[in-house]
Amino acid sequence: MTQASINVPPGAPIDKDKRNWIVTTSVIGGAGVAAAAVPFVSTFQPSERAKAAGASVEVDISAIKPGEKLTVEWRGKPVWIVRRTPEQLAGLAKLDPQLADPKSERKPGEFTPEYARNENRSIKPEYFVAVGICTHLGCSPSDRFATGAQPSLPDDWAGGFLCACHGSTFDFAGRVYKNKPAPDNLEVPPHMYLSDAKLLIGEDKKA
Ligand code: FES
Repeated sequence: MTQASINVPPGAPIDKDKRNWIVTTSVIGGAGVAAAAVPFVSTFQPSERAKAAGASVEVDISAIKPGEKLTVEWRGKPVWIVRRTPEQLAGLAKLDPQLADPKSERKPGEFTPEYARNENRSIKPEYFVAVGICTHLGCSPSDRFATGAQPSLPDDWAGGFLCACHGSTFDFAGRVYKNKPAPDNLEVPPHMYLSDAKLLIGEDKKA
């Protein structure tokens, strides 16, 4: 449901170096879906060449409410920042038996940096940061934050993400369920907090 997009007014020339981000955040739960477009002007706008080289992206996360997800682009990929609720966090440990790699022990250096090798796969428990690309064949999974029975998901669904391409499912820490096409958990990109409100994606202290 939640998407980030580069919004260009109809008919306007596309100036890729000066384009602004329009980021959509959403609240998903129960019966309803509410979405609000929030204009978000990048604090800096690296050139296309710099972006291709992997420039880091600074993100203001102060407006993300519990249960919401913000998507930004880094190296041409969607990066999710999910602010998990206490209930969503509390449910993670119970899911371990159903997951293919609950402790992120497979390819740890590739998909899970050392500082995210914990129960929540994150630096701060509340915020989950992940590359929103399925580890099977590269589709972008969709939010399935609501719990319980719903199409394409088990009746005891605990909330998370569904890759509709071939049915892989991931929990709120991006951990893939057993016996799914996706071989690995979602990638946690290098990242670090510059302050409580500012997240830097693409760099970490490595310390
Ligand atoms: S690309 Fe996600 S399940 Fe195949």
